[in-house]
Amino acid sequence: MENLERLQKVIAAAGVTSRRKAEALITTGVVKVNGKTVKELGTKVSSKDKIEVNGVPIHKESHVYLLMNKPRGCVTTVKDEFDRQTVMDLIGTKVAARVYPVGRLDYDTAGVLLLTNDGDFANKMMHPRTHIPKTYLARVKGIATKSTLKPLLKGVKIDGHVTAPAVFQVLSVDKENQSTLVELIIHEGRYHQVKNMLEAVGHPVKRLRRDRFAFLDVNGVAQGKFRHLTKSEVKALLRLADEEASEKMPIRATKGMRQY
Ligand code: URA
Repeated sequence: MENLERLQKVIAAAGVTSRRKAEALITTGVVKVNGKTVKELGTKVSSKDKIEVNGVPIHKESHVYLLMNKPRGCVTTVKDEFDRQTVMDLIGTKVAARVYPVGRLDYDTAGVLLLTNDGDFANKMMHPRTHIPKTYLARVKGIATKSTLKPLLKGVKIDGHVTAPAVFQVLSVDKENQSTLVELIIHEGRYHQVKNMLEAVGHPVKRLRRDRFAFLDVNGVAQGKFRHLTKSEVKALLRLADEEASEKMPIRATKGMRQY
């Protein structure tokens, strides 16, 4: 059977504009399907339909998946209201497709960030039901121990919401500076999730890095640079998202120590 998709989604996927702006284009009457103006937002189209925006035929943009080693001091929004550097500035003109970040990392958080122009992929990676593990390395204030961090195993209350169980490891303790390096693996992605979780157990975060997104790390990718994911990495991520959505997989701590 022919795969039908909503017109605004197809226009956005072609890299013309965002889905919301595509809706506006449709309602203003500048979109034609097979030569006929279409103003209905619910309209479904197939790959055989000829779509024009302002008289220009659109072509499906091929999907692009990037892994960036995000540095501190840049935002993961596409445009920043304060004119700070964005991850899009780091991509510049090196990638023609209109990619955007999959989820967000704070301005002062470094590490693994995925970017794509594939909306379905992005939704799968971010959906809370998919439980993709994200591994963070946090330098926290104070001497964190198994017992001070223990509440994270079951979940802590933040803004009336109890966080999902997380896994942690104390990697090293700096007695002189009264700080601890902690690895935390979570699968939620709320605003300031890691900072709030560690603050809730009495260990405010001084420095944060996302060490891994699922099985992906930044090895071989310099800070501020990116690489394309391989086809098999994309496939494996999608497989993982499907598995994780169907059964909650336990999250495991990483073996060995890491530098930070
Ligand atoms: N949790 C945070 O607190 N900040 C991030 O950037 C990512 C996860």
